[in-house]
Amino acid sequence: MPVPLHTTGKASFDDIYVHPDPRAYYTRMSDLDYRIPELAKPFFQQQIREYRASARVAAPTVLDIGCSYGVNAAVLRFDTTVPELADHYDDADCDRAGLIRRDRARVNAGTGLTDVRFVGMDVARPALDYAHEAGLLDDVVHADLESGEPTGEQRALLATADLVVSTGCVGYVTEKTLARVATAHPRRRPWMAHFVLRMFDFAPIAAELAALGYRTEQAPGRYQQRRFASGAEQAQVLNTLSVNGIDTTGLEDSGWLYADLYLSRPLPKHHADIEDPH
Ligand SMILES: C[S@@+](CC[C@H](N)C(=O)[O-])C[C@H]1O[C@@H](n2cnc3c(N)ncnc32)[C@H](O)[C@@H]1O
Repeated sequence: MPVPLHTTGKASFDDIYVHPDPRAYYTRMSDLDYRIPELAKPFFQQQIREYRASARVAAPTVLDIGCSYGVNAAVLRFDTTVPELADHYDDADCDRAGLIRRDRARVNAGTGLTDVRFVGMDVARPALDYAHEAGLLDDVVHADLESGEPTGEQRALLATADLVVSTGCVGYVTEKTLARVATAHPRRRPWMAHFVLRMFDFAPIAAELAALGYRTEQAPGRYQQRRFASGAEQAQVLNTLSVNGIDTTGLEDSGWLYADLYLSRPLPKHHADIEDPH
């Protein structure tokens, strides 16, 4: 069956974010060599280290936007990769409760990143529920901030974020969501690190964040996100990139989607508020 495409030209996997457990998600992502979470891992670890040192916060709160089944939390907490997670979840004999028990035990073993509180935000309730019950996420925000403001309770949770991260989510979310997240706390602005497919323009987000007191830098390098799901997807994405004047030689034309990394931090005036208690 052909893979359906979004209006953006990118393949749509909306059907796999809504299963009660992550098996279908990891199988599909692993088939496409989805690897941006593991490429993002050392950068997120570095941001967390720098945040700890700068703000003198022992256990910072990381908010993962479009977290799905707690993917970045799993990669960081288990110190692992997407193919290994696909293997981990590829167990037809284990039901959802069994998968949750195994994940909780693995989180409690603390083999990967510890001393971090993870909050996940997504529009896919089943994915959030799984990640929360499995202990991958400490708190969840089920919201679509593209279409409206957070509730008071959601805003209070979002306001606890020290570092906001995302992989594979910008495009679904825009400056609307990120501005609402950035201003959830009346003064304290979280740091941000977003891996963004090259087909999506980060400039409107950087401009919105600049108006809120941020400086954004693009980190060096290009990061493989996944293989194209079909020739049709590749043709559409190559066309979008060419219309946007982006050279795809040796990158997307070789069969992979590539992402850039954008790091946004509040300028010192806003940064000073970092000592504010949550
Ligand atoms: C391609 S998946 C990426 C999942 C995960 N970050 C990863 O890298 O494996 C995109 C995620 O964004 C979520 N999403 C789509 N629209 C959203 C919105 N408006 N707000 C928050 N999350 C959204 C989807 O439900 C899905 O879980």
